[in-house]
Amino acid sequence: MPDGILPIHLATAIEAVIRAGDVQLSRLGGDMRIEKKGTIDLVTETDREIEREFRTLIARRFPDHVVLGEEYSSDAERDAVPEFCWLFDPIDGTTNFAHGLPIFCSSVALEIEGRAAVAAVYDPNRRELFTAERGGGARLNGVPLRVSSAPVLIDALLCTGFPYSVQQKPDELVGLFAHFLGISRAVRRLGSAAIDLCYVAAGRLDGFWEMHLGPWDIAAGALLVEEAGGRVTATDGTPFSARRGNVLASNGLIHDDMLAAIRSFQTSFRSRKGTL
Ligand code: IPD
Ligand code: CA
Ligand code: CA
Repeated sequence: MPDGILPIHLATAIEAVIRAGDVQLSRLGGDMRIEKKGTIDLVTETDREIEREFRTLIARRFPDHVVLGEEYSSDAERDAVPEFCWLFDPIDGTTNFAHGLPIFCSSVALEIEGRAAVAAVYDPNRRELFTAERGGGARLNGVPLRVSSAPVLIDALLCTGFPYSVQQKPDELVGLFAHFLGISRAVRRLGSAAIDLCYVAAGRLDGFWEMHLGPWDIAAGALLVEEAGGRVTATDGTPFSARRGNVLASNGLIHDDMLAAIRSFQTSFRSRKGTL
């Protein structure tokens, strides 16, 4: 087992996301208190309840560990890199959850000294548990995962997502989506970045990109992709960092072509807009 990772870390990650999934399913379709964090950015009482329960679990089990969660962490906490840090999204796919659309999950990664070491993502609707340990491979319900072997973009099934700020500046994000539609087999938008990344790890998708995400959206999924033999970078090709919130994940074979497509789209978009 790699440095610093203990069996109790993965066991805790699994316990947390399965508990989260049980709570999600028990509330799905019932009366739900929904609030808006922004015009289209929702939060339900279930998001908050699950994160509070997770914080209690970690405080009891690992009192010196830090939790970086979507609902209760400040921006300052987001910038810090503690020795042991749990990045937790109580519900990834809250908009789907609030509408009763069964595409959502809970996602957790444990970073040790700033590097994701352990990951677990649970989709309760399909009873799919995705796990990874750095250097130990990625699994779906205990079965090892491997990324796809699609060699070229035109044979690739891609996926992306949009930030809640998309309505303020849709042109570049939607333009890039349209650009990929023109050069790949198809592009999906499922509404859960963590599930999108797990699907790249599982070979169900060949590539995924998204910008302006939270670290809790992508830390676990990125480790899964890497451990399944894929490649993960930022969308400009620089090294991936969950805190930058910008990700391109692929089976590795189409990665350079995706980077080139993003670069060429952005260059022509920005020169048209006069921002270059
Ligand atoms: C969102 C989902 C979505 C992505 C958004 C995220 P949330 O997370 O991952 O797929 O496109 O950018 O914010 O709000 O459902 O936890
Ligand atoms: Ca999320
Ligand atoms: Ca969330």
